[in-house]
Amino acid sequence: MSGKAGGLATPRLWGGAFDAEVDPVIDAYTRSLPFDHRLAAADLVGCLAHARMLFETGVVARDSAAAILSGLSSMLRRVEAGELEVGGVDEDVHTWIERQLTEEIGDAGRRLHTARSRNDQTAVAFRLWQRAEAERAVAAALELVEALLSQGRQHVDTALPGYTHMQRAQPTTLAQHLLAHAWSVLADAGRLRLAHRTAGLSPLGAGAMAGSPHRIDPVRSAELLGMDAAYPNSMWAVADRDYVAEALFACALAMVHLSRWAEEVVLWTSSEFSFARLQDRAAKGSSIMPQKKNPEPAEILRGKSGRVVGDLVSVLVTVKGLPLTYNSDMQEDKEALFDAFDTVTASFDVARVLGESLEFDREAMAAALEGSYITATDLADLLAAAGVPFRSAHERTGAVVRAAGERGVELWQLPASDLEELVPEIEDREGLLAALRPDASLAAHRSYGGPAPERVREQIEEIDERLAAERQWLEARKPPPIYRAHLDGRLLAEEIPGTGPADTPVLGDGDSPGPRRPKVGDA
Ligand code: ARG
Repeated sequence: MSGKAGGLATPRLWGGAFDAEVDPVIDAYTRSLPFDHRLAAADLVGCLAHARMLFETGVVARDSAAAILSGLSSMLRRVEAGELEVGGVDEDVHTWIERQLTEEIGDAGRRLHTARSRNDQTAVAFRLWQRAEAERAVAAALELVEALLSQGRQHVDTALPGYTHMQRAQPTTLAQHLLAHAWSVLADAGRLRLAHRTAGLSPLGAGAMAGSPHRIDPVRSAELLGMDAAYPNSMWAVADRDYVAEALFACALAMVHLSRWAEEVVLWTSSEFSFARLQDRAAKGSSIMPQKKNPEPAEILRGKSGRVVGDLVSVLVTVKGLPLTYNSDMQEDKEALFDAFDTVTASFDVARVLGESLEFDREAMAAALEGSYITATDLADLLAAAGVPFRSAHERTGAVVRAAGERGVELWQLPASDLEELVPEIEDREGLLAALRPDASLAAHRSYGGPAPERVREQIEEIDERLAAERQWLEARKPPPIYRAHLDGRLLAEEIPGTGPADTPVLGDGDSPGPRRPKVGDA
């Protein structure tokens, strides 16, 4: 390696012009191998695409290309099988790959870095890593949606109070409540899918920032990587971290949703609510109080949302104020994204187990529908339907609530004489009293998206359809063409078909540049 050639002891990709070792304090502080080793497989895939492109364009001759491709392929196989440990004294994973390759195949390995810099190398590896992780996270999110949906299916008719300001507000169905969480998580899956798409712009070939004087073909590299397009600007390619920020936002918002779900699990399983019990497999005990059953997994889930929000903020603040193009500050993006994806995927799983292990207490929920005049709004709505302006109906209902309070009865238990006096517009007193029962209120709230069982059944169908569509997207994900060629041992074969034109725009709906062939002399 050039470091050794330059007379320095530590293997480095540079050092020809240096005559002293880096201070160990600096070395330890600046190395990224201790964490970016996680990019090894993705980086090797990027290396394979680069090497194959160099071969196809004739920048690197067949013999060297053959050695490089089979060397990289062997390393990739062993890294994935856990047979080749990624670690040691190298500065970063990129240095590790090149040193290891050159040790294994000899001097040909020293040609791999032609028309490439670690700046485009790190970006392409990180993008590939993000795409794979986004797929895993989407899969975990969909399982959580499925768990909420199957609980919901069993509780289409189960009534409980809905809350605003943490005060009992109006009756709702348990399915409606659970599905509200399911919709959030479905939206999270959608955002993660978008982050997958944003990461589908290949920076490979941008070099340090100025592309290359070699006759390279970045569009072909993008195609080999199964990406949607190549960067349209070499400076943007290495300076851009939008894909990281978007993924972090998707993860952070998902964690915020999971935290709200966790908070409700904590509340509902408290003695004060008693709406649900957690099965033992999803709870923990106290070291001192033998009677305790704590919803600790839910609390930890709630707690973990903070760090992922922190990951997002940390990357935004890191990139803010950086002059174009690459700056070493950007090395700080790695641990944030690793942490965010590790946390969000594990958290989807935990939220799912919590959901599956909740045993609901229908009676406790039904009991909570009493004692708070929870159908008062229904009375105001009935008055409004009978022609009373809603604002007056609201006031009049207030008087009815007061009367029920004085008598110590529910609204639906008021004597006919009170109704005659307070709501003369509605003559069918029996019908009115029946309409003020919580189950009647629920049945009446059948506006689009409402909690009425019939509407909730439709919602269940809609979520089912969306789940199927998201699953289809996941199933349609194919490994990059270069990775398939690696698996088939056909890296040097004449044909490696690409994935064809992008099916999804990258820059935003409708304005994708799409894969393009370079024009200027094809260089
Ligand atoms: N380890 C760096 C990162 O993760 C990649 C190296 C970038 N190039 C350089 N000259 N230091 O961002």
